[in-house]
Amino acid sequence: MSIDEIRERYSRAGLNETDLNPDPILQFEQWFQDAGAAGVFEPGAACLATASREAEPSARMVLLKGVESRGFIFFTNYGSPKARDLAENPRAALVVAWVELARQIRISGSVEPISREESHRYFESRVAGSRLSAWASHQSQVIDSRQVLEERMRDFQARFGDGDIPLPPFWGGYCLSPGQIEFWQGRPDRLNDRLRYRRQAETEWVVERLAP
Ligand SMILES: Cc1cc2nc3c(=O)[nH]c(=O)nc-3n(C[C@H](O)[C@H](O)[C@H](O)COP(=O)(O)O)c2cc1C
Repeated sequence: MSIDEIRERYSRAGLNETDLNPDPILQFEQWFQDAGAAGVFEPGAACLATASREAEPSARMVLLKGVESRGFIFFTNYGSPKARDLAENPRAALVVAWVELARQIRISGSVEPISREESHRYFESRVAGSRLSAWASHQSQVIDSRQVLEERMRDFQARFGDGDIPLPPFWGGYCLSPGQIEFWQGRPDRLNDRLRYRRQAETEWVVERLAP
């Protein structure tokens, strides 16, 4: 099926209140599966927006590595600008866009680091090269050349040899616990469907339809 046919199929079906799972996380998982089935490349790629204490905004892509009842998990360098923002202001937003399906999901809420055991478990699952590069890169710091990075990579390779490459103390995961999740389905004539869950209590959500 071509991308146009896929998009048309989802656009025609639309998004109705009666289609929604009462739990927005399960709804996210359903859409995530649809994206996988439609062949979307890296369906877990999401734009993460943070803001500093001075309300200076910043956005960048991350890969969602877990979606659980408590929230959305991603991993990064704890010394990076995004981590600095989150330490100063632990509120953030994520946007996932699967344009092939004319779908977008907007998520906002509060962010906390996950436990060291969980970060450890995920780090262990990464290939050796990705574990080494986590050690080698002071994420977002200015460097003189690519050579500097490659030398640092070699240094860490030599340091760890064939042994274990441990979790760097400055690297790990975060969980964004959502307060709101909006599901957006593109429809013909830009008369798009938008249904937003707002958290009322721990497991209680109100769903509202928004004008496109
Ligand atoms: C598709 C995609 C996925 C990415 N995933 C991650 C990720 O999971 N973690 C991460 O730290 N950076 C990831 N990056 C790089 C970030 O976008 C960004 O360059 C880096 O984290 C530095 O951001 P900061 O300076 O705002 O902290 C990804 C980039 C792209 C394009």
